[in-house]
Amino acid sequence: MATGEGLALVELDDDGVATAFRADVLAGLVQPQKAVPARWLYDDAGSELFEEITRLPEYYPTRAETEILSERCGEFRELIGPGRAVVEFGSGSSVKTPLLLACIEPAAYVPLDISGDFLRAAADDLAAKFPDLPVYPVEADFMREVALPPAVRELPKLGFFPGSTIGNMVARTAVDLLRSMRATLGQGSQLLIGMDLIKDVAVLEAAYDDAKGVTAEFNLNLARRINRELGGTLPLDKLRHVARWNDTYARIEMHLEALEDLEFEVSGRRFALRRGETIHTENSHKFDLRSQNTLLLAGGWTPARRWLDGEGRFSLILADWTIPRGAP
Ligand code: AVI
Repeated sequence: MATGEGLALVELDDDGVATAFRADVLAGLVQPQKAVPARWLYDDAGSELFEEITRLPEYYPTRAETEILSERCGEFRELIGPGRAVVEFGSGSSVKTPLLLACIEPAAYVPLDISGDFLRAAADDLAAKFPDLPVYPVEADFMREVALPPAVRELPKLGFFPGSTIGNMVARTAVDLLRSMRATLGQGSQLLIGMDLIKDVAVLEAAYDDAKGVTAEFNLNLARRINRELGGTLPLDKLRHVARWNDTYARIEMHLEALEDLEFEVSGRRFALRRGETIHTENSHKFDLRSQNTLLLAGGWTPARRWLDGEGRFSLILADWTIPRGAP
């Protein structure tokens, strides 16, 4: 899954990954606010830890979005209808995707992902659950326009981007992605997108700093990965996971904070952290109803319908491909 640019969107062989990882880490460590792009959190260990996060009591987004998907089936059926090609941005969740597909009777399912392995595993799983549904996995970087398989080109499309992964991107990147989705899906398409909501700071910070320490491990795993893959000497026991609300940007930020003055190496280069200084590792933006609308509109999507879970923590939005016309 860039600082705040979300996602595992690196399509490279092992040497290429190491090269890109090294370049990102070395560039990030010389900035005034040290930062490592969040996509590097998701190696195999990080992806497993993220799966564990989604089951934590404090981490409400997955449960809340699943609740909406299971309870609003009738409305999805009515507003989306049958016969669309569902294009999922990311290889799909074993729980959420089937809930949607079972509701709307799509004509095809097209998961898009940069990671071929994840993609094939998820597509096989889905094909087993829906034996009559044509599944066309596409290995591609969906941050750019993707050419869809010829078999679905003429079908009306529904883009599906759950999980509030859009929140892991800074606004400019999020708008770029929405516009790429618009180009990929084409005129007449719809987009069903999950967006987490601004709420009590204590609830948000707990969701990203759970009592069991799984999110701390997820964050520290990045330092472990730097040490293992880039010959790093970051002392894990002298780094602390921090999740804090940044009210200006309406986002939870994850950082690794130095517990004392530190010197360390990465790929033979020397760096230092003063006590209390941090490496910024992830942003998770939260939205209110107007900021959601503004973001979607900036990306070329007109919000049509919004659902919240019973506790009002999370939202799923159905938006229409905006027909361009002159502004007043
Ligand atoms: C993948 N993404 C939507 C998660 C989020 O909530 O921003 C990543 C995450 N980081 C820590 N906990 C969960």
